[in-house]
Amino acid sequence: MNIAVTGAGYVGLVTGVCLAELGHEVICIDVNEEKIEMLKRGRSPIYEPGLEPLLEKHLDNGRLHFTISPDTAYRKAEIIYIAVGTPQKHDGTVNLDFIMKAAETIPQYIKRDCIICTKSTVPVGTNDKIQRLIHERKPPDVRIDVVSNPEFLREGCAMTDFFNGDRIVIGASSTEAASTIESIYLPLGIPCIKTDIKSAEMIKYASNAFLATKISFINEIAAICEKIGANIEEVTKGIGSDKRIGPHFLQSGIGYGGSCFPKDTQALVQLAGNVQHPFDLLQAVIQVNNRQQSLPVRKAKELLSSLKGKKIALLGLSFKPNTDDIREAASLTIIHELQKEGAAVTAFDPAALPNTLQHLGNSIQYAVTIESALQNADAAIIATEWNEIKHASLDIYEKYMRTAIVIDGRNCYSLKDIQNHNITYISIGRPPIIKKHADQASLNAKEKTYDETTAHLL
Ligand code: UDX
Ligand code: UDX
Repeated sequence: MNIAVTGAGYVGLVTGVCLAELGHEVICIDVNEEKIEMLKRGRSPIYEPGLEPLLEKHLDNGRLHFTISPDTAYRKAEIIYIAVGTPQKHDGTVNLDFIMKAAETIPQYIKRDCIICTKSTVPVGTNDKIQRLIHERKPPDVRIDVVSNPEFLREGCAMTDFFNGDRIVIGASSTEAASTIESIYLPLGIPCIKTDIKSAEMIKYASNAFLATKISFINEIAAICEKIGANIEEVTKGIGSDKRIGPHFLQSGIGYGGSCFPKDTQALVQLAGNVQHPFDLLQAVIQVNNRQQSLPVRKAKELLSSLKGKKIALLGLSFKPNTDDIREAASLTIIHELQKEGAAVTAFDPAALPNTLQHLGNSIQYAVTIESALQNADAAIIATEWNEIKHASLDIYEKYMRTAIVIDGRNCYSLKDIQNHNITYISIGRPPIIKKHADQASLNAKEKTYDETTAHLL
């Protein structure tokens, strides 16, 4: 089919490239000319494993095109996806300006019956607004249906998620439109859930909110484990074996970030509030996560007593591994808190240094290797579990740091491996490993602050 995708960002670009792989004629439109020029040259503006080879393949075979012109994008389209960003406003509500602009622009260029498919995550009721806006502007002799088709792509594995998702959700008021959208994905053999528009919009929010709830829940359990001397990894294994709970999304750490969970949980709390149903549980999930993100700084202060003038190596900037995306990343909270304490930060990340430099400028130092980030550091904080960090030799902490103190926000290393090194290692939900360091007399004073029950475990 002839498909147009509006917005060539993390979601739109992956959707467009994968639809071309399914054999459709796809044209992606974006207001960002620089991005479109890059894409025309077969270069991906985002770091997404597996994307660029398919991008080049379908540019070469003429199935995939990029443009900034709405006329070029929409005049032949049978299906038009909307995948523009729906960022969070400062008050926690969703910024729908880009969605509404797309809904106002598209009908002016449509020449034939078509289906508008909203991929972006939008508050319940938005697709009805899109439907009204389009009907006020469309040519009279053209039929336009609006369908909600939320995405469940995880950054860093979006290509895999597109081809191997658990379900396709289609919300539509017309069964014919729903069947047309279903037919697009048929070759994937993924179960299709066809429902009404409002339920489809809610499925997206409820899914992300539930996943965020699992993360905050396990992080609370981890905090209690630390205090009673239990080990979160053992507890997670024990509860995750129950099919009703499942082992996924139970990885304790310094909390969730990204362009989805923080925004979507806030949006759902707002939505509930608007219909006089205070979503207390989800508000608690958000509060736990906000606290979790600054946990490494609290632990650093406990160990070093003061962070003023200290040099901290921050390993990992992206909100998760295998992406360059730093939106709402825990690392940004950590940097802010460290700078408030007067510490100097040197950050390493395999992919997110350019985005961070653009965001923070030279308020921090940037290191292209882990070793150079660790050089003379008083402590290291791990914020993202990149393989480069997980598989680094533990010797580098002793070799390059002024004192080998590691606060691991993503439990990258096993306690057993750490034991063989002179590293003070604080992780999440597991007993602390405190070692004597030459010039860290103050550290010894802190030793007693940890619960004695954990001492015998070491
Ligand atoms: C997507 C979904 O839109 C969002 O709802 C979901 O929750 C997260 O994933 P994302 O693809 O990450 O957002 O947004 P972004 O990477 O910012 O891409 C949006 C693209 O739309 C950008 O390339 C931007 O230039 C483009 N855009 C924005 C337009 O083409 N037109 C506009 O009017 C606004
Ligand atoms: C999420 C949803 O998974 C996806 O379905 C939706 O379409 C978009 O939002 P994404 O935000 O890209 O995807 O990444 P995800 O892998 O879900 O991780 C989100 C955050 O949760 C990351 O900061 C990650 O570090 C954190 N996380 C994830 C945990 O802390 N523990 C876990 O067990 C899993």
